[in-house]
Amino acid sequence: MSITHPSFGTLDDNRIIIFDTTLRDGEQSPGFSMNLQEKLRMAEALAELGVDVMEAGFPIASPGDFESVQAIAESIGRRDNAPVICGLARTGGRDDIMRAGEATRPARRKRIHSFISTSPLHMRVKLRMAPEAVLEAIVAGNTLARQYTDDVEWSAEDGSRTEPDFLCRSVEAAIKAGATTINIPDTVGYSLPEDMARIFTMLRERVPGAENVIFSAHNHNDLGLAVANTIAAIRAGVRQVECTINGIGERAGNAALEEIVMALRTRHDALGWKSGIETPKILRTSKLLSTITGFDVQPNKAIVGRNAFAHESGIHQDGVLKDAATYEIMTPESVGWSNSSLVMGKHSGRAAFRDKLRALGYGEIGDNQLNDAFRRFKDLADRKKVVYDDDLVALVDDEVMRGNDRIRFLSLDVHTGSKAKPRAELELEIDGVSRSAVATGDGPVDATFNAIRELFAHEAILRLYSVGAVTEGTDAQARVTVRLEENGKMVDGQGADTDTIVASARAYVHALNKLLVKRARTAPQALIA
Ligand code: KIV
Ligand code: ZN
Repeated sequence: MSITHPSFGTLDDNRIIIFDTTLRDGEQSPGFSMNLQEKLRMAEALAELGVDVMEAGFPIASPGDFESVQAIAESIGRRDNAPVICGLARTGGRDDIMRAGEATRPARRKRIHSFISTSPLHMRVKLRMAPEAVLEAIVAGNTLARQYTDDVEWSAEDGSRTEPDFLCRSVEAAIKAGATTINIPDTVGYSLPEDMARIFTMLRERVPGAENVIFSAHNHNDLGLAVANTIAAIRAGVRQVECTINGIGERAGNAALEEIVMALRTRHDALGWKSGIETPKILRTSKLLSTITGFDVQPNKAIVGRNAFAHESGIHQDGVLKDAATYEIMTPESVGWSNSSLVMGKHSGRAAFRDKLRALGYGEIGDNQLNDAFRRFKDLADRKKVVYDDDLVALVDDEVMRGNDRIRFLSLDVHTGSKAKPRAELELEIDGVSRSAVATGDGPVDATFNAIRELFAHEAILRLYSVGAVTEGTDAQARVTVRLEENGKMVDGQGADTDTIVASARAYVHALNKLLVKRARTAPQALIA
């Protein structure tokens, strides 16, 4: 059945709308927060990937959230064919809705997405509101949102645990007040696939006006069922699915975009639906998110894990060599895996370097940042036999993503060995002034971190220090992640270099910069599940 939507016009009969919430539900989970630059970069990649709706943030949550939603609406939302830019709001909060309306205003196509809990438990304990008051809030909130845009989404938080009659009344109220998309989240990841079928079938059959709106599923992964539930919801008539890259999100995460999209594509025979995602860009987007947040996906993660297309056993290898289809249900290339990741050598010029960065999804880079990144690339190419795409991504992220940082790494000399007390001589630029310090420690990393503390005094506690290799071989760059905690606020920093101690210093400095940004932001209230 065709449906007409304010942002999408008449939707093709078999088209599923991909609503990406990496920058909102994903970003609000511990350790995944991103600064403005990082969000803009991720938003660029999501737009290129072809998401239909991008939930860019929760504007009322903090001035920083407002600023990033507005910046995304301005820079990406104004383009032809840009995704719909969406801001989240609480249904009961007039200010929330107004802020979401203001933040998304610059976008050509904008959406306000508001939510309020409808389950008995949430209404009684969390909201302390009577059901009738919740219904009133639904009417008021959606009516107000419609004053800002015709594209209004309403979510019944904890909808999957809501009493059926009250869910129907709530959805009816939202539709009458102007909501054009109705989202029923499985907020706590409790549902089974058959629950999805029951809920959406019921709503479509019982609620007046249901035929004129788009139903949406938003599944959390607490039981590992988020993607299965999403597919079940699609089968029950849902036309929009909410998801995140790599499945990041609250607690066990949200349904993973790449898994839903590839299930639709690979099992088109059984499902019959399609998305507008450019699947060969999936891997690149996944890797970008890992680089920005410092969290790699597990090796066996479907679609984007390192082993997703690796064949170890002899029998499998033999089969794949004869015909890949023996053990591969989709081609690695169809999601962006390829063997051509060897990039450039020390003779490559600036123009080739810039082109390569564009191909890796970096968009336009300022001349100063390009020069700095190019200098580091040359330096790396001198030290390393081959420079891979992943090397470049790790290296360029240090330069391009860190343009506004207050503290910058300049140089490090470390003296260490089995007899000497490790000693680090460190040079940092702090607020534009170059400063240096010498410190000792219980190892070269400890000495380096002590030198950082000497140059920039702070109380943050080191919660995690981990080292991985960007590529293979003994000349590979080390990618270090450092987690700092200050007053309950947690940040992760990353650094890469062929020298592990230098990578450690860069990672610590990156974390410190993120902490400074976080200090400046008002802590968002714990508003949502
Ligand atoms: O999980 C949830 O209920 C949410 C809503 C805000 C849509 O994220
Ligand atoms: Zn959620």
